[in-house]
Amino acid sequence: MSNNEQQKRAAAEAAYEYVVEGEYLGVGTGSTVNHFIDVLAERRPAIKGCVSSSEATTARLKRAGFDVETLNFAGDLSVYVDGADEVSPQLALIKGGGGAMTREKIIAQVSDTFVCMVDTSKQVDVLGAFPLPIEVIEMGRSAVARALVKMGGLPELREDFRSDNGHPIIDVYNLDLTDPKAVEARINAIPGVVTVGLFAQRPADVLIVAGADGVTTKK
Ligand code: 5RP
Repeated sequence: MSNNEQQKRAAAEAAYEYVVEGEYLGVGTGSTVNHFIDVLAERRPAIKGCVSSSEATTARLKRAGFDVETLNFAGDLSVYVDGADEVSPQLALIKGGGGAMTREKIIAQVSDTFVCMVDTSKQVDVLGAFPLPIEVIEMGRSAVARALVKMGGLPELREDFRSDNGHPIIDVYNLDLTDPKAVEARINAIPGVVTVGLFAQRPADVLIVAGADGVTTKK
């Protein structure tokens, strides 16, 4: 395993401590989450089942023998575990590198504790070096892109990609994200936007950071 994969595994093991037995567990998407699912598969906690944020995570959870339930059935969750593409000191996040941010945001919103796992390379003082993913309705994608240009952004359509919800994703460079809550509200108000991958209004509650010197936790 490469150093980076070892760090993801270490973060996943630390996140496992937040799993609550007897309840449904929210599970995010991505390579760090895949390590978390491996840890779940090895330790087999007595959870009721999982609520998944993507088709890929659902398939992996099922292969590992876990029940996957809809959020409509499970209701509000105690714990949601996911990764991120960037994290600020206030635990605001950019997510959606894997294109799953719509379901991720819905799950995060109804979870008491959002546990986010990253490696040190994803910690930034100000969000925005990572292009901001925005899921859009196909017919509105050019209109949304023009609105983002007016905000100073440089939108790029993600090539040959559809989200699990069937929508395109625009990756936006160059946005000023010094006030991420305000930018999130502004982008949410553009007609045609399904979900912006800024998690500032509902940031992570617990940040697990894996680095060369081990794992640290921030709340
Ligand atoms: C998917 C996400 C992921 O959490 C994010 O892209 C991080 O992925 P990885 O753990 O592979 O670096 O937001 O939509």
